[in-house]
Amino acid sequence: MNDFASPSVLQAMPVTSDELDLDEAPPAISDAMVYGDLFAKAFFSKKSNPHNRIKPEHLALAMRKIDAVSEREVVFDGRKMLMLSSNNYLGLASDVRLSEAGIQAIQEWGNSTSGSRLLNGTNELHEELERKLAKFKQVESVVAFQSGYMANLGAISALLSKDDIAIVDKLVHASILDGCTLAGAQVRSFKHQDMKSLERVLQDVGYKACKLIVVDGIYSMDGDFAKLPEIMALARRYGARVMVDDAHATGVAGPNGRGTAEHFGINEPDVITGTLSKAFGCIGGFVGAKKDVMDFIKFNSRAFIYSTSISPSVTASLIKALDIIENEQDKRKNLWACTHHLLSGLKALGFNTGVSETPIVPIILGDEAQMFELVAMLDGDDIFASPVAYPACPRNKPRVRISLSSEHTIADMDRVLEACGRHGRSMGLIH
Ligand SMILES: Cc1ncc(COP(=O)(O)O)c(C=O)c1O
Repeated sequence: MNDFASPSVLQAMPVTSDELDLDEAPPAISDAMVYGDLFAKAFFSKKSNPHNRIKPEHLALAMRKIDAVSEREVVFDGRKMLMLSSNNYLGLASDVRLSEAGIQAIQEWGNSTSGSRLLNGTNELHEELERKLAKFKQVESVVAFQSGYMANLGAISALLSKDDIAIVDKLVHASILDGCTLAGAQVRSFKHQDMKSLERVLQDVGYKACKLIVVDGIYSMDGDFAKLPEIMALARRYGARVMVDDAHATGVAGPNGRGTAEHFGINEPDVITGTLSKAFGCIGGFVGAKKDVMDFIKFNSRAFIYSTSISPSVTASLIKALDIIENEQDKRKNLWACTHHLLSGLKALGFNTGVSETPIVPIILGDEAQMFELVAMLDGDDIFASPVAYPACPRNKPRVRISLSSEHTIADMDRVLEACGRHGRSMGLIH
C-alpha cells in the first residue's frame, strides 16, 4: 500500500459528501491526501459529480420521486401533474390489458426465466414476440434483448471488430458509442444530419474497410428524423451497411407505426434496433436483420449470451402491446395531432424548438439557469417537464425537453402553451 492510500490519510478525508460543507471554503486537503484515492472524484470533482455543481433546488428537479401514475398524469409531492417527460408515446405503460397479459404469464410461467436465452431462458413467449416483431418491422428475423441499451450494445459489439469502422452521426445515443467501445472498432463521426460530412468520411475511409453507418431514426434530444433515404443511397455508393436505432420511431412513425423507414416509404435498412420501453410501454429491446445476420448476432453477442432473458410477464405484455400498436391507429393519430398543435404553438410564441418534427419537443434555451428556471416555473403550474443539459445535448444548447403521449389532449397542449407563454414573457425569453 502506498503512502497516499494509507489508512491514516483516508481517515482524514471526508467519508461522504454530506460531511462537506459546500458553502464553506474547501477544506485544506493536500494533493497527497487526494492523490491515489478512487473516491476523490465523488467527493470533490465539479465535472463528474453534479452534486458539487448544481444548486440543491435544481438538483431536486432532476430526480423527482413519482408517487403514482395514470395515463397522462403523475402524482408528485402530493400534486397531480401533467406528465410531459415520459417516453410513454402510446399510453401503454399503464394500459390494463398489458397488465392482465403479464399477470396471466406470471401465473403460467413464474416470475423469471432464470437463465440466458442460449441455455434455459427461451420459451414460446419469446419466440412469439420475435416472430411478430419481425413481421411488424418487415425484416426476416428479430431477436429480443433485455433493453434498448443492450440491443445496441449487443448488435454493434457482435458485428464489428477492431479492423472495422463505425461511422456515426455526432448525436447518436450513448449506447451506440458504448457498443463501438466494446467492439474495439474504429469510430468516425459525421456532423449531425450533414450528408456532405458523411460522404467525406466515407471517401476518407475508402472501400477496403468494413463499414457500418449508425444513426438514430428519431434523435432523442432534438426530435428530428434521420435523413434515411439519403444515408442509404450514400451507403450503397460506398459499400457500407446501415444500422438504424429506431427507439423513438417504433410504434410512433409511419402510417402503421413501423418506424423511420415506413415514415419515408422505403425498405428497412440492413440492421434495425429499438427499445420496447417507449411506445411499447414495458421494457426490453430488439435487433432485426436478415436471418443469417441475426443467427450470427445471437451467437456472438455477449449482451445476449451472458444475461438472463426478458421475464415471462414482460414478454406477454409486449405481445399484447404489439397487438394494440397494430390495431389501434387512433392513438397514433392523436399523438401526432398533439405534436403538431404544440410545435406550431411554441414556434408562434417565439420559442426555439430547433429541428423537431416529432413528439420530442425541445425548448432550447441560452443557459442552464434559464433551463432550470423554466422547469421550476412549469413545476409550479403542475406541469412536469425535464431539464436536459450537457452531456445529453450540446453544451451551448440546454433545453426543457417535452415528450408527448397519445393520451394527451389538445386542451392539455393549450394549457402548456399558455404556461410557457406566461413564463417565457416573465423571464424575457419571448415578447
Ligand atoms: C435512441 C435511444 N436508443 C436506445 C435507448 C435505450 O433504450 P432502453 O431505455 O430500453 O435501454 C434510448 C433510451 O433512452 C434511446 O433514446
